[in-house]
Amino acid sequence: MFPPNSTLGIIGGGQLGRMSAIAAARLGFRTHIFSNVSCAPASQVANETTVGSYDNPEAIDRFAKAVDVITFEFENISADGLDRLASLKPVHPSGEILRTSQDRIIEKSFLNQHGIPTTSWLPIYNINDALRAGDTLSFPFLLKTTRLGYDGKGQAIVHNTDELNKIFNTLDPHPLIAEKIVNFNCEISVMVARNKLGQVTTFDVTENQHKNGILDLSFAPARIDIDLQKEAKTLAIHIANSLKLIGILGIEMFIADNGQILINEIAPRPHNSGHWTLDACPINQFEMHVRAVMGLPLPNAIRHSDAVMKNLIGPQGMRVWDSILSTQGLIGHLYGKKIAKSGRKMGHVTKLYPLHTLPGKYGSEYF
Ligand SMILES: Nc1ncnc2c1ncn2[C@@H]1O[C@H](COP(=O)(O)OP(=O)(O)O)[C@@H](O)[C@H]1O
Ligand SMILES: [Mg+2]
Repeated sequence: MFPPNSTLGIIGGGQLGRMSAIAAARLGFRTHIFSNVSCAPASQVANETTVGSYDNPEAIDRFAKAVDVITFEFENISADGLDRLASLKPVHPSGEILRTSQDRIIEKSFLNQHGIPTTSWLPIYNINDALRAGDTLSFPFLLKTTRLGYDGKGQAIVHNTDELNKIFNTLDPHPLIAEKIVNFNCEISVMVARNKLGQVTTFDVTENQHKNGILDLSFAPARIDIDLQKEAKTLAIHIANSLKLIGILGIEMFIADNGQILINEIAPRPHNSGHWTLDACPINQFEMHVRAVMGLPLPNAIRHSDAVMKNLIGPQGMRVWDSILSTQGLIGHLYGKKIAKSGRKMGHVTKLYPLHTLPGKYGSEYF
């Protein structure tokens, strides 16, 4: 267990690092951010920042030497960078978990090898593989980059062979992955945390709605059958144990129209769909993450309220900030980003409901 005043190093300076640093400070830890820009959202609330590119060995060494333990909020550090960090200080979650989640082919192979269901998929290394996917998965199917995709970027639906050639050449970097389209009733996610002692805890299942490939609304708890909620949590625990996770993991899942739960992807860090826990749980996802990384105990992830979370995205999101501030019952969070570019996550807002009173699916205005 790292004692109070130990320094947690966080790779990446975005909002997930910012909220992790705030949680760490509350537990009496110091934080040190590694970011490729100065004044990043996380740096604004941390003790120190090392500014440098994520593949600069000299900057990585300087950062690692100044901290006691390292975690990340940003997933795209190079394998070499990770190895270098791990040779200097403990890194949680491990580089191996990060490598698994960085690559959709490795990720889905890992899940399937551990008996965890996903949609049908094929690795696409060349155009012949892509043409075969049309036969095997049948049109339309999804073509995605295996690496560096986020918020729906780096993927496209392929409707026919003509489109296939174009999309194959546009998506970058290669290799690609072809996925069968899941007809889903809803998308859910589970945040699961695990520490070195093997203590595991899961937050309640979240229901997620996306707009233009970006998370728009999260509902907690998900308005699905209690048995499905239990099954989703059991799957999450199985994944965390299989990965020997130390830290927190966000797991995105589909509930297919036949009722089957399929895993979409995993992210070994706090997750946007877990932001509701900041306001609706005594211990939120960021604190649970920090506890796991610092070797602290992991009490059960209890929810004291139901919650709806809405992302504030780009200039439109910022336009409603004043009205959020003047509306009773809305809890606003801003991330300290200077320019409200289209598609950029600027903040979020949470509305709480007493336990078991979350409005049902239809006909409700949430905000
Ligand atoms: N195989 C699929 N079938 C149906 N919808 C999908 C599939 N894969 C992705 N999607 C939709 O696209 C969204 C973004 O895809 P995802 O693989 O999670 O990439 P990202 O890394 O951008 O979050 C998902 O949340 C889901 O709404
Ligand atoms: Mg996703």
